[in-house]
Order: sequence, then C-alpha cells, then structure tokens
Amino acid sequence: MSKIAILCSGGDVSGMNPAIKRFVEYSFKKGLTPYFVYGGYEGLIDNKIKEATYADVTGIIHRGGTKIFSARSKRFELKEFRQKAADNLKEHGIDKLVILGGDGSFRGIDIFFQEHGISFCGIPSTIDNDINGTQYCLGVDTALNVIKEATDNIRDTASSFKRAFVIEVMGRDCGYLALVSALTSGAEMCLIPEIPYSLESLKKRYIKEIAEGRNYFIAIVCEALKNAQEIADWFQEEIGFESRVTILGHIQRGGNPTVRERLMAYQFSTYAIDALTSGKTNSVICYNSGAFDFKDINEINAKKYQLEEELLLLGRSLLEK
Ligand code: F6P
Repeated sequence: MSKIAILCSGGDVSGMNPAIKRFVEYSFKKGLTPYFVYGGYEGLIDNKIKEATYADVTGIIHRGGTKIFSARSKRFELKEFRQKAADNLKEHGIDKLVILGGDGSFRGIDIFFQEHGISFCGIPSTIDNDINGTQYCLGVDTALNVIKEATDNIRDTASSFKRAFVIEVMGRDCGYLALVSALTSGAEMCLIPEIPYSLESLKKRYIKEIAEGRNYFIAIVCEALKNAQEIADWFQEEIGFESRVTILGHIQRGGNPTVRERLMAYQFSTYAIDALTSGKTNSVICYNSGAFDFKDINEINAKKYQLEEELLLLGRSLLEK
C-alpha cells in the first residue's frame, strides 16, 4: 500500500485538526496508509514519523491548533538536514506528503522537491491570508471571527464611555485581517501597510463627526505598522478622546474552528490527496472565486501576495468616508 504523510509547518491555525482528521479518513478510503510527521520540518529531520490510526483523529474536529504540532524550522533551510529528512521518509517508504503551511513552508518544500523528488501537495494555511495564488488560506475565517467577537466586546464598553479604542490585529506584513475586520465590525479607522493614510484629513472628519454627536471610536490597525500606541496618543492629543490600546495577539490563532473552516479543511485535504494519487507532484490546492484549483508551487512562490483591488477600494473609501 502506498504511504502518505501529513505535516504542519509555521504558525498553527484553527482548521488544521479538521484537515488532519479528513486526511486520515480519506487516506484509508483511498487505500493509502496515512502517517503523521510530528512538529513540521523539525520532525521530518528528527524522524518523528508515525503511522496514523482512526483513533488518533477522534475528538479533534472542534479543536484549534494542531494535534501533530507545528514548528518554524531553521535547520530545514540547510541542505544536510533536508537530506536527513529525505532519508527518513525513504526509510518509512513514504513517497507522498501533504504540507499545511504558509509561504515560508512552501518555499522550503519546493527546494526539497527539487532535491529529492518526493511528491507533495500544499494546503495554504495561515491566518495572515498572504499566500500568492489563493484567495483563502486555512485559519482565516476562525481568526476573523475571533477578532469580530473581541471587537464587538470592546464596542460594548466603547459605546458606554467617551473613548477611542485602538485594536492591533495580526497579519505580519499583510493588512487582510485588519481590513476585513474593520469593514465587518464597523470600525471608524483602519490602518494597514497597503493603504496610505493622512491623520490630518482623518482629524478633520472626526472633529466634524464629534460635533454631530459621535461619542466613541474604534480603530483597527495591522501589527506591521507598529503604531497602535502612537495612534492612541494621537486620539488623546489631537482628537481629545481618552484612549486605550488592545493588542489581540495570539488569541487570534486559536479557538474552535468555524463551520466554514471545517468545510474548507475537509475539501482542502480531499483535493490534496486526490492530487497526489492522480500523479500531481508539486502543487498547491488553492481557492479562488468560489472554486478550488491547483497551482504549481513555482507559480505560488513566484510573487508576493497582494491584497485584491476590490478590497483595497473598500479600505480606501473607509478612510475617506
Ligand atoms: O504567520 C502567522 C502569525 O500569527 C503572524 O500573524 C504573526 O506575525 C506571527 O505569526 C507570530 O509568530 P509567532 O507565533 O512565532 O510569535
């Protein structure tokens, strides 16, 4: 029986566990023997590879994080350790890999494939939603819902008090989480690296709104700008509103996977296994305009992700409103 392994690499996301569950169950259905690699590329190097059973994946569908652990591996950047990883897979007789990870993980697996020819299919997984070639990455919907709940809670206190609240969200260099959260939580301000802004023109608008009765502000800022405190100080000094900063941090990476996340995980895993059993050797399963499509890893890694123009337009108009 052909052997197939799954691993998680980089920042964990809610949705990895449902994907792992589907991976095991669908592998059995397709007559494959499923394996887990524990701890991402680090586990591959250290031979933390074990055959998976149905029992391993019971009771995990509702859990965030990943049962098989994840890691960011510096060693996998070095040829000698990639050789060790390949030797370990060969020793187990594993010739197919499903990789849940972000852009760094995909660059690593591309080099590994070129050196050792071990087939893989990537499942885009990062709350940042910053992988070129796909409009959706596993983990995003749950992270957005965590941010939504936190922002709604902050709005409760904000609306009871004359204050400005600055909420910093994750995303690394990408403003996707901040922008979608701002649009869907009714924030008055959204600052992301992709959209230039002028505090002077925002000030004019806010002063007018205050005169018309505005009593509080919610600002969502992307962590990349590192300016949450600066913006809070600005509200205090320039707008005259007492301010508070909330850095949401790693709570955005955890939590019960949403229904959408579980369905995406189910489909991503199904497509990944189908790709590997139908002879695809180095693809990533992507999701665009409501449909799944495979892209060659070279196409994914060729460019940096860019926020869609349609979203950017909405973000710009939020700042101009
Ligand atoms: O890439 C996912 C992410 O959560 C980013 O949004 C964030 O900048 C980073 O990982 C945090 O990394 P770590 O968990 O290593 O602190």
